[in-house]
Amino acid sequence: MAKPKYTTHLGMVDILPGEVEKWQTIERIVRETARHFNFEEIRTPILEQTELIARGVGQLTDIVSKEMFAFERGDDQYVLRPECTAPVARSYVENHLDQRGGTQNLFYIGPMFRAEKPQKGRQRQFHQFGAEIIGSADPVADVDIIAFMMSIYNRIGIKNTSLKLNSVGDPESRDEYREALKDHFRPHLDEMSEISQKRFETNPMRILDSKEEEDQPFIESAPIILDFLNEECAEHYDRVKELLDALQITYEEDSHLVRGLDYYTKTAFELTSPDLGSQDALGGGGRYDLLIEEIGGQPTPAVGFAAGMERLLIACEALGISLSDEKSVDIYVVTIGDAARKWALVHLPELRNKGLSATMDYAGRSVKSQMKDANRENAHYSIIVGENELSENKFTLRNMKESEEVTLSLEEIIKKLT
Ligand code: HAM
Repeated sequence: MAKPKYTTHLGMVDILPGEVEKWQTIERIVRETARHFNFEEIRTPILEQTELIARGVGQLTDIVSKEMFAFERGDDQYVLRPECTAPVARSYVENHLDQRGGTQNLFYIGPMFRAEKPQKGRQRQFHQFGAEIIGSADPVADVDIIAFMMSIYNRIGIKNTSLKLNSVGDPESRDEYREALKDHFRPHLDEMSEISQKRFETNPMRILDSKEEEDQPFIESAPIILDFLNEECAEHYDRVKELLDALQITYEEDSHLVRGLDYYTKTAFELTSPDLGSQDALGGGGRYDLLIEEIGGQPTPAVGFAAGMERLLIACEALGISLSDEKSVDIYVVTIGDAARKWALVHLPELRNKGLSATMDYAGRSVKSQMKDANRENAHYSIIVGENELSENKFTLRNMKESEEVTLSLEEIIKKLT
């Protein structure tokens, strides 16, 4: 086949008919779960101010320093949102959502953009569903968010996941921890990877995230943040674990879990799957008690998660979980001649208005190829309309699976099928 002149950008894919149905199933399950957990949907623009994302996510993160799709237009600096927590926080402040009273339990579904090197489970335009509880400092909110996330995977049937849990403390405990980490890594820097040497200067906690083999011995022996938590953060962490136990949600404490976004405080978590390969995080999140103040709002504690739709689909595929029914249509109207085609066009709405899905031939093909087309569309019934049928107002209704035919008026057909 000739190479097409226009293609999608690297790391951006079309979601085609046949695939879209799986997405609709996931979206339906997310919405149903959100309703059961009493979360409301929020939709924010795809473009945000670059400054919001830089401040919110953190200047030194990979996302902000290397992966933003950003551009200028006039005096404005736009960025395609790389995630949705900072945008939701912006919206909360801008629209005074606190005045609605209570905590704001919000969820979203939509595309995000990061200029990463594409690989399996990693795209430049990808899709997330996520949720945020804004206005609660209580560990109950952390655990409810985790339960919401887990519930979606359970409903879909993905059960062999592993929930990793850590606390990243608050800025004060992190400052102390960072110094301890630096003291630990400093004597070995020469033996460590180039990327970790860079992170040593900019963000030493991210060294713990390194997958480079030469770094592993030093990471294994590194001090852990839990030993640096102040009393409040330590109590919060203990309570989160106690509540997870009460809900019988199993987790694994992972003192190296630092996450790639700077806004986290206290709880950090990630859900991984062995079916994903190297990009094994299905979703992740945590508490971000300082973000809203950082972007100009009142001090407001919050916690949330986001999960990748593409990775969820990869996991479903690996586990043989089918998310879509086979494509089908209730009725295919087979027409012979122009008058019959006009009749079909005029009467299809009567079938559709009764809740039946119905289609016809749009290309003036022979009866034989229309029947073939009806089979390709997986039609349950066909209605055959020719000159005789029109003059007698009686039509052949054919059950395509059973190959049985009856002759009926349109009213009788509708009655029989509804
Ligand atoms: P994140 O860990 O950056 O967190 O992303 C969440 C999930 O989005 C990942 O676990 C992964 O499944 C998916 N994901 C991320 N990048 C890509 C990519 N390039 N291609 C495909 N999937 C990807 C956040 O975005 C935070 N906003 C989560 C959060 C919400 N924290 C608090 N509230």
